[in-house]
Amino acid sequence: MLGSTSCSPMIDTHAHLDSPDYDADREAVIERAHAAGVHTIIAIATDLESSDRVLALADSHPSVYAAVGVHPHEAKAWEGATSAARLRELAKPPKVVAIGEIGLDYFRDHSPRAAQERAFRDQVQIARELELPIIIHNREAWEDILHLVEETDAAQVGGVFHCFAGSPEDARRIIDLGFHISVNGILTYKNAGMAAVVQHVPADSILLETDCPYLTPHPYRGRRNEPAHVSIVAGRLAELRGVDPTQIERETDANATSLFGLAVRA
Ligand code: NI
Repeated sequence: MLGSTSCSPMIDTHAHLDSPDYDADREAVIERAHAAGVHTIIAIATDLESSDRVLALADSHPSVYAAVGVHPHEAKAWEGATSAARLRELAKPPKVVAIGEIGLDYFRDHSPRAAQERAFRDQVQIARELELPIIIHNREAWEDILHLVEETDAAQVGGVFHCFAGSPEDARRIIDLGFHISVNGILTYKNAGMAAVVQHVPADSILLETDCPYLTPHPYRGRRNEPAHVSIVAGRLAELRGVDPTQIERETDANATSLFGLAVRA
């Protein structure tokens, strides 16, 4: 609907568009995304305040949708029923397309692991009540996150393991559970070990994201990332899978549209 004619449409399914990194030029960043063929951006919250901000961005931009939720780093602030009631309200507007990002992070351990688990369980419950997919952050917590996903019956709503950086076997387990994997600029890093993963996953299980402002793809690594760079991720994925970039763009666009119900909500 917007942007240059040389690209197929693309969706950045994971952008921290409310980050203070964009305070000086957020509108220009969104315009550059449109110009690069990115017609939809899902703005991802990290806590309840951030959820308010991504909702405001979705309200003021037709191309922006929102995921609301509390990241495992912030799980220590999760107050059970009080937080759950607030998140339920935040998740009601029609442009909220997912609960996220939620999960477990045993690498940084910014919140106690018991708090991370509690926040995750409560948020999956809300996702199931509201029939919204979940966006999962997992770092060095494979066994526990897979166990929790099964125990909470999160497959009922499905979702995505964002910033996927596991093994081909991890990818297989996720896809068998009915979840997608999402890939980003890590694909462009040397020795990231992702080639074997993305060569073998089914085309209908992959999403594209930037995770901006983090994980800037080569050759812009070291600078701030932004949604326009999702086209670089698409190009690298096409190269690794040995297909035309337009095919990747078309397939991942369809996957994201279907998972997040974008067509029916637009
Ligand atoms: Ni994120």
